Amino acid sequence: MIYLDNGATTFPKPASVIKAVNETLVKYGANPGRSGHRLSMKASEIMYECRLNAAKLFGIDSPENVIFTNNCTTALNTVIKGILKPGDHAVISSLEHNAVVRPLEKLKEAGVEYSVADYVPYDDENTIDNFRQAIKDNTKLVICTHASNVFGVKLPVERIAAMCRIYGILFCVDAAQTAGVVPISLKDTCIDFLCTAGHKGLYGPMGTGMLIINSNITPDSFIQGGTGSQSSNKSQPSILPDKYESGTPNLPGIAGLNAGIKFVLSRTPQKLENYEMKLAQRMFDMLSKMKNVILYTQRPDLKNSVPVISFNIKNLDSEDVASVLNDKYGIAVRAGLHCAPLAHQSFETENTGTVRAVMSAFLKYEQINYFSRAVNQIN
Ligand code: ALA
Repeated sequence: MIYLDNGATTFPKPASVIKAVNETLVKYGANPGRSGHRLSMKASEIMYECRLNAAKLFGIDSPENVIFTNNCTTALNTVIKGILKPGDHAVISSLEHNAVVRPLEKLKEAGVEYSVADYVPYDDENTIDNFRQAIKDNTKLVICTHASNVFGVKLPVERIAAMCRIYGILFCVDAAQTAGVVPISLKDTCIDFLCTAGHKGLYGPMGTGMLIINSNITPDSFIQGGTGSQSSNKSQPSILPDKYESGTPNLPGIAGLNAGIKFVLSRTPQKLENYEMKLAQRMFDMLSKMKNVILYTQRPDLKNSVPVISFNIKNLDSEDVASVLNDKYGIAVRAGLHCAPLAHQSFETENTGTVRAVMSAFLKYEQINYFSRAVNQIN
């Protein structure tokens, strides 16, 4: 199978990730941070190593500010529900995923409101201006995707972050599609919270995600329970990461994530991005020559996009195209709305959806050629 559904989760995973998960279960599958025996200590070490590697990748000094979550959605929920209180207002971009929109819709019931700042294609000035205009006196948090999971276009998050700092507003980035694919350094930016999946561009197993806290202001935690620390205290510890990490963690997943982050650090996000962008450009160039193929963005490039291509074939349903690619050609893509109806509204594809192909480090040029020939035949 030619796997182009890397926006949903990357596949295959590096051999080192599979080995790390397997070793956890076979060699030291004990509960980290709970006991003093050798296996538990080894489990704790792996978790700490993963925090260290994530801190290195994202340019933060404190590994304890790396919070493990189940996925990017849990990280986003932690920030959104832990920061916003009744009477507060938030601003989001018009490209957000349901992982941002649905928690905010839920919070409406508690008296939180939000506004949507329109992304203006390839126009950072006007996009930032839309964010500025959406800010109100009670705006407490701005949440913005680093790049659209559907169309791959990037938002100017560093500049929006700087603007938020001037206004004294907290800024959260959804890096689900960019972590590991695009260099991100929190040292050089005013990003307060970075939420990411561990199983996409970081090549970890599913069931892993992270919240990176880059602020002295920390969200309230919606989880309370055992942390292995301060056990005589009836209240949840306030220290990081314990504030957010109650209950037995996903050790096999985190060990795999650690190996995935090491894979990314060794290849470097810069080189991964360069390679995957060339694949995306080749795909775009081939599709753009096909008469009935509709593309929704400019040719992808490093400044404006991540290696994601969304398209349709005129008069064909996106889900039908995905089915034929699967059944007849052995190609995996995702079609429909990609859990991001807002982004589809922005590109006027909410009624049709799109077929989405997302690159990964393991794809080869010949596979892009095969995919393009398959699309041309369907066309
Ligand atoms: N959010 C993931 C996607 O874009 C699952 O497909």
